[in-house]
Amino acid sequence: MTIKVGIIGCGRQAPKHISGYQAYGNVELIVSDIANDSALALSRKFSTRVMSLDEIINDPEIKVVSVCTPVKTHDEIISRLVENKKHFICEKPLSTSKSNLNAINAKIEINNLVGMAGYIYRFASAFTLGKNFIDKVKSSENSENNISESIDRAYFRIGGPGSHAVWQHKKDDQGGAINEMLVHMLDLMIWYFGNITDIYEVKKRIHYPTRIVNGQTINADVEDYVLIRVKTEKSVDVTIEADLMSSSFTQYAHFSGKKASYTGSIQPTIPTCLHLKGDKLDSPSVHMHGYKNLYVDQIKYFLDCVLKSNKHDKCTLEDSINILNSIQRIQNFN
Ligand SMILES: NC(=O)c1ccc[n+]([C@@H]2O[C@H](COP(=O)([O-])OP(=O)(O)OC[C@H]3O[C@@H](n4cnc5c(N)ncnc54)[C@H](O)[C@@H]3O)[C@@H](O)[C@H]2O)c1
Repeated sequence: MTIKVGIIGCGRQAPKHISGYQAYGNVELIVSDIANDSALALSRKFSTRVMSLDEIINDPEIKVVSVCTPVKTHDEIISRLVENKKHFICEKPLSTSKSNLNAINAKIEINNLVGMAGYIYRFASAFTLGKNFIDKVKSSENSENNISESIDRAYFRIGGPGSHAVWQHKKDDQGGAINEMLVHMLDLMIWYFGNITDIYEVKKRIHYPTRIVNGQTINADVEDYVLIRVKTEKSVDVTIEADLMSSSFTQYAHFSGKKASYTGSIQPTIPTCLHLKGDKLDSPSVHMHGYKNLYVDQIKYFLDCVLKSNKHDKCTLEDSINILNSIQRIQNFN
């Protein structure tokens, strides 16, 4: 049976989602954008149909939708999708409003829908190896809530130019280094070490108020750099540094303590190193990953949850609520 899928927003992320649906197979794709030229260009590239957002929402045969629009549009689009009983995957961050996230979550449960956020790093083998490693450390410590005898500190880094769209550099458009970059690492931090219990330090800066975006000089009014130092539920001290001003993309995570250490990245040039001291070999194991299209795995996971009723436990609404709680605590810290 062919599945009809709507893609809303035809910018940078949309082709990545499309590559995932095409790899899954048996899909008919329909694209939509507030800028009709963008929808037409994408439809020509991937031989899809074009519809308006209203047409997608009112088409009862379209049950699955990818939302690839800027952050400030997510609330309205997702609310309309769940009202009309559509399963959705929406790019991160889902929302900057806790009440909207709670309302969407309630509707998802009532209508038995899958609602997923696009935290793509959950599908990178470097980070699933990291999660399995932490679970192994936990079982060796025999402790569910505190792994600090083995691992007591972590550092997460993400940065890039983020220069292709003006909205990414505007506060009113909910751009900035927190929403665009830090959220990815908050998601990994919470997955690995639990929610924030204490905040020691938050630094937010606008280092480059004037930037050139797509050849146009713009005034940025939202942070392009953020650093946080926090403690988490598993008693790990975590530092995260995120920016929208590095000249090229960089991303990695490192954690360590008396008995264990880990380094991993989404970047294929950085190997994953795991070391559990006192383990049989007592030497690090090193994994090279190469390039992989993570959107193939992400969309497969999403569609399997929708079509095969697989348990949905990755990138859930609850995860997005936890991330938003962290962001609000970080934003309010002074
Ligand atoms: N997962 C990742 O690694 C990753 C990377 C980059 C961006 N993102 C996220 O993806 C989302 C989109 O980012 P992007 O870089 O593709 O943005 P983009 O600016 O390249 O594309 C967004 C598109 O949405 C369209 N649009 C805007 N408002 C709309 C509306 N109301 N209805 C329909 N279309 C609308 C725009 O015309 C544009 O074509 C954001 O949430 C961003 O944070 C995720």
